Amino acid sequence: MFQNTAAQERVEIDLGARSYSILIGHGVLCDPASYAALPPDAGAGRKAHALIVTNTTVDPLYAQALHEALTPHFHAVQRVVLPDGEAYKDWPTLHLIFDALLARGCDRKTVLFALGGGVVGDMAGFAAACYMRGVPFVQVPTTLLAQVDSSVGGKTAINHPLGKNMIGAFYQPLRVVCDLGTLDTLAPREVSAGLAEIIKYGPIHDMAFFDWIEAHIDALMARDAAALMHAVRRSCEIKAWVVGCDERESGLRAILNFGHTFGHAIEAGLGYGRWLHGEAVGCGMLMAARLAQRMGGCDAAFVARLARLLERAGLPTVAPALGAQRYLELMRIDKKAEAGEIRFVLLEAPGRPVVRAAPDALVREVIAQSCGQ
Ligand code: NAD
Ligand code: GLY
Repeated sequence: MFQNTAAQERVEIDLGARSYSILIGHGVLCDPASYAALPPDAGAGRKAHALIVTNTTVDPLYAQALHEALTPHFHAVQRVVLPDGEAYKDWPTLHLIFDALLARGCDRKTVLFALGGGVVGDMAGFAAACYMRGVPFVQVPTTLLAQVDSSVGGKTAINHPLGKNMIGAFYQPLRVVCDLGTLDTLAPREVSAGLAEIIKYGPIHDMAFFDWIEAHIDALMARDAAALMHAVRRSCEIKAWVVGCDERESGLRAILNFGHTFGHAIEAGLGYGRWLHGEAVGCGMLMAARLAQRMGGCDAAFVARLARLLERAGLPTVAPALGAQRYLELMRIDKKAEAGEIRFVLLEAPGRPVVRAAPDALVREVIAQSCGQ
């Protein structure tokens, strides 16, 4: 699992003083070189402390290997192990990180290492943004979704019962270390969830990549190493470019939320954790494409193509029947909403995203069609 093959790729994210590298390869997690030149000087020639933030599932799989790789660089390496699940992306769990930092006397030179999927990454990043008004952190994503999306770009957050990712901060990591070997232990359903965010990059930016995903979807599902390397690297390149243009989502970055307006409503409406984030985004992309088609954007042939690819990726394409009214209520809490008006990422054409409001009547039609009603 931890075979360190020579093939290692690096994607740079250009944010001026907050620029950083994304390392991608097999074995990078356990390679001390991946963490070189990271820790700040803790003063008087001392080394800084490291705190690994992980969860009960990932801890027994990868925390010891990370601990050993960090040991040469840090004065001490400690660990806090959170409960696992989207339902724990909340205040009480966030406080477990602060409790650990304070109880262990961690100062502002302490580096947090987020070891896990997007839930751990978003929470550890938010804790890093807040603790002593900001300490450095490193993303070590171990799910496909986190490697292609959540670990890159500095969005950190916890959920609120009324809305997904509503409490958070923009806070960039010092580095992202994507070990493709960690994907070997991922449940098949989680691989599919990650594929949803990979597929997303096609319609929003690069239809040649969408063609490539269609041609390699079976290899990706089978976790073929070369296919995963290409998919993770290209996804990180696209995300790095978007974030480099618009770090704080004043415009362009909103395209990364294709499928998320419907998707977040599915997650919040069903209760966090019933559908995986990637599953909700996948189905949400299909709903957004259907809405775009009704508004004169992408055509029926593309909608059918997207549906087919999502199915081949093992993702659900029938939306949960929450009721149109409930969908609308939940979508009004979306961060893109302005003055209560829901704004969707739609497609003028495949590869040409736009952010627009849509008539409620059309949204209701899409919900009815997508829920199989
Ligand atoms: P997750 O963090 O819940 O991880 C999925 C499951 O896989 C968990 O049970 C986890 O413990 C387990 N796991 C993690 N690594 C494993 C491994 N290598 N082997 C076996 N099991 C492993 O879910 P996710 O899909 O990684 O992330 C979803 C979260 O990311 C959501 O909360 C979403 O809002 C957030 N997100 C954030 C951004 C962002 O820009 N910050 C972008 C997309 C998604
Ligand atoms: N996943 C949305 C973003 O990073 O902006």
